Amino acid sequence: MIQVAPSLLAADFARLGEEVSMVNKSRASLIHIDVMDGMFVPNITIGFPVIKSISRIAEKPLDVHMMVCDPGRYVDQVREAGAEIMNVHWEACTHLDSVIRSIRSAGMKAAVTLNPATPVMLLRDVIRDLDMVLLMSVNPGFGGQNFIPNTVRKVRELRSLIAESGSEAVIEIDGGVNLETAPALIEAGADILVAGSYVFRASDPFKAISDLIDLSE
Ligand code: DX5
Ligand code: ZN
Repeated sequence: MIQVAPSLLAADFARLGEEVSMVNKSRASLIHIDVMDGMFVPNITIGFPVIKSISRIAEKPLDVHMMVCDPGRYVDQVREAGAEIMNVHWEACTHLDSVIRSIRSAGMKAAVTLNPATPVMLLRDVIRDLDMVLLMSVNPGFGGQNFIPNTVRKVRELRSLIAESGSEAVIEIDGGVNLETAPALIEAGADILVAGSYVFRASDPFKAISDLIDLSE
């Protein structure tokens, strides 16, 4: 069954506690948190003090998506903020193997994210060391963008790479996910769908999460 990770980027930050409580009660598997530095992407969002506060009330594991340059600098801070999964961009790491090792030795699950233009095959030599691969289905930086259809082909390619290599990595997709774009992703072999505006702009976010999961039944 498909898993859903609501992205808090689209939540109402003035009511962040209530939004996290809604996710706690929902069928979501993870809480996705987008950290941006204004350098790797042209936007700035939230940082460690906010993640720490969320982790105090969150009843689902935190999936922290680091859209920052040189994310290896922040492994300890991400762990101390309460993350279970640390997602780093392939494009932002000069020494990716070393970053993956430090995430795992800090006791977190290691995930690598690929931008839409970054080929799946570039993960061939690290795939066995990963707990998750996140494929961006929009260019990172903002919520509410349109889904890039080529992502479906990348999911299939990643599925084959994972199978051939014996990796246990799961496949997560982020950007433009909704009831129209999700079926092809599920069919292609995605495990986890991140959804921001689809969930938090819905009149009933709790039901929106459930509807997405029901697509795979
Ligand atoms: C975009 C972020 C996403 C974003 C997705 O850079 O990584 O997690 O919140 O938002 P939607 O689901 O609205 O595309
Ligand atoms: Zn994200």
